[in-house]
Amino acid sequence: MRTQVGIIGAGPSGLLLGRMLQLEGIDSVVLEDRSRAYIEARIRAGVMEHWAAELTDAVGLGARMRREGLVHEGLEISFAGQRRRIDLKGLTGKSIMVYGQHEFVKDFVAARLDDGLPLHFEVRDVSVHGFEGDAPEIRYTDRDGAPQRIDCDFIAGCDGFHGVCRPSIPEGGLAVFEKLYPFAWLGILAKAAPSSDELIYSNHDNGFALHSMRSPELTRLYLQVSPDEDIADWPDDRIWAELQTRLTQDGDWRLNEGPVLQKGITPMRSFVCETMRHGRMFLAGDSAHIVPPTGAKGMNLAMADIKILAEALVEYYKSGSGTEGLDGYAATCLRRVWKAERFSWWMTRMLHLAPDADAFDRRIQLAELDFITGSEAGARSLAENYVGLPFDD
Ligand code: FAD
Ligand code: PHB
Repeated sequence: MRTQVGIIGAGPSGLLLGRMLQLEGIDSVVLEDRSRAYIEARIRAGVMEHWAAELTDAVGLGARMRREGLVHEGLEISFAGQRRRIDLKGLTGKSIMVYGQHEFVKDFVAARLDDGLPLHFEVRDVSVHGFEGDAPEIRYTDRDGAPQRIDCDFIAGCDGFHGVCRPSIPEGGLAVFEKLYPFAWLGILAKAAPSSDELIYSNHDNGFALHSMRSPELTRLYLQVSPDEDIADWPDDRIWAELQTRLTQDGDWRLNEGPVLQKGITPMRSFVCETMRHGRMFLAGDSAHIVPPTGAKGMNLAMADIKILAEALVEYYKSGSGTEGLDGYAATCLRRVWKAERFSWWMTRMLHLAPDADAFDRRIQLAELDFITGSEAGARSLAENYVGLPFDD
């Protein structure tokens, strides 16, 4: 097989790249080691930045998102027995789109298959070669057990944090920056109507909690727990009781409860790999960087990398040999990545209860929340980051 761009991973980054290249007449093959059913049911991110929803429209796949997604013009922060609203729209002129990542994935998978473009599921033994020279190739075993090889001009490593692309870069080819947090998120998806029209980020003496949603019938909720927590120790009753305690800080407001459809624990880390390119292989999304979910930036950063990569590839193919965009890919992405890393780290630190925090740290945290929610300058800084920073030229 031969293609122009070999894409490894059918998450938001790989699927968006395939779509953006398709619209410019550039061939690609997408390889995914999981099944279609698995990736379409995997509950992950829920918040799309303003420009990310617009890009989804621009690539022609925004129709269901516009019908079923929820546009939010603000969010709420709860602390010290009160709840305060950040007026995202009023402060920035922009809103966010609440639309599940797995719904985005479903839309992009369906479009690619309907268009008859190659997207191979359940592949195994994927390996990447030749990207330090001029002849990159991808080898894998297909679903039927047959060995395959794809020759391509470029490899896009869109294979997430545990993928094969980043570890294939020779030693010394990259530097890693990492921070682990002393807590994790226990997340549930519940068949219950959201209890508020907007997201609620809650800082509580028992730890952080978040109220989010997926639809008018589905609530997504998170609790800060310790990183070594066993999910078996969290029966549904205990989860609801703790959510009620941490989220109900304000008057007689109560959280709607319902059957728990999914639950899981996600560790929290910050991770950046520099650089994001090695020869003819480009890393994008979670394969290159991870943020703790508090800033709702993971999927948005993945889409931002792809916007920059797709534009550079289009420039390369359209102009024949222009590599300026490709040469600048890593530096352009990393400026945005580090700003999102900073925001996510800051939100995490401001909203969670660190196990080693003393009374002084706690007072400082509450003062920061008071400032951020009480000062227009403070709120605007949060809002600008939350709806998505502008792209650098
Ligand atoms: P991924 O979505 O990870 O896609 C990579 C794809 O590559 C996967 O489909 C994987 O199966 C495939 N793959 C891996 N290895 C191979 C291989 N060797 N060969 C072929 N295919 C391979 N972000 C938020 O903003 N909010 C959240 O609430 C949130 N929750 C999350 C919960 C979890 C459990 C995780 C893991 C992440 C969460 N994130 C969240 C982060 C967000 O989902 C990611 O940033 C986003 O998925 C990144 O997209 P991606 O396409 O780069 O990577
Ligand atoms: C979600 O809806 O899953 C979600 C929302 C906001 C976050 C993280 C996750 O910061």
